[in-house]
Amino acid sequence: MTIHIGAKPGEIADTVLMPGDPYRAKWAAEAFLKDPICVNQVRGMLGFSGTWKGNRVTIHGSGMGMPSLSIYANELIRDYGAKTLIRIGSAGAMLKEVQIRDLVIAMTSSSISTPSLGFFREMNFAPCADYGLLENAVVAARERGTRVHVGGIHSSDVFYDERPDLTEMLARHGVLAVEMEAAELYTVAARHGARALAILTISDHLVTHEALSSEDREQSFGDMVEIALSAAFA
Ligand code: ADE
Repeated sequence: MTIHIGAKPGEIADTVLMPGDPYRAKWAAEAFLKDPICVNQVRGMLGFSGTWKGNRVTIHGSGMGMPSLSIYANELIRDYGAKTLIRIGSAGAMLKEVQIRDLVIAMTSSSISTPSLGFFREMNFAPCADYGLLENAVVAARERGTRVHVGGIHSSDVFYDERPDLTEMLARHGVLAVEMEAAELYTVAARHGARALAILTISDHLVTHEALSSEDREQSFGDMVEIALSAAFA
């Protein structure tokens, strides 16, 4: 057990899918894993372990924002030995060509701050996805006929952004979408020799102001779970 995860040694799989919402972790485990068992519920953050096509998998919530994700990613990797971490989440589109429901796979992520900033100090570290996982996820998405974009994203510290100029500046540099966790996931994974990837569904659009309905969110979340599992075990 760690401070934030109640799982016993051996109860966390090498491969961990990380949605932000703990109830999405429960839904995904019940929908996609064989014999899922709940391995964590400390502070209401749910984690489940089971198997997919004979492979052991844990689906564990990350919470919202980089400080929360950082706690779980650190403990999953350092204390439980997780080797592959795939974030499955939502993002806001920043470019017109990225549409609602599209998938964005993050090659890298820009941020103003991350929990790792104090560690890097003057170094502007570029958080980077694991290329093998990224390639597998693109192949899995294309096989399903899902519209997919691959490129840079923004991991923001705020959902309610008061800096439209910042969004515009990042969009001019080809940044596809904004979410709140990937930069720290990639950084923590790199620090400890784990593989990481963020697969994101566009749930809202910063240019057109459209948003996904809750039924559409559930459908696209299921697609992401299957793409993430295919990518992890390809
Ligand atoms: N996640 C989904 N949509 C988002 C947005 N607009 N900003 C930050 N995180 C998000």
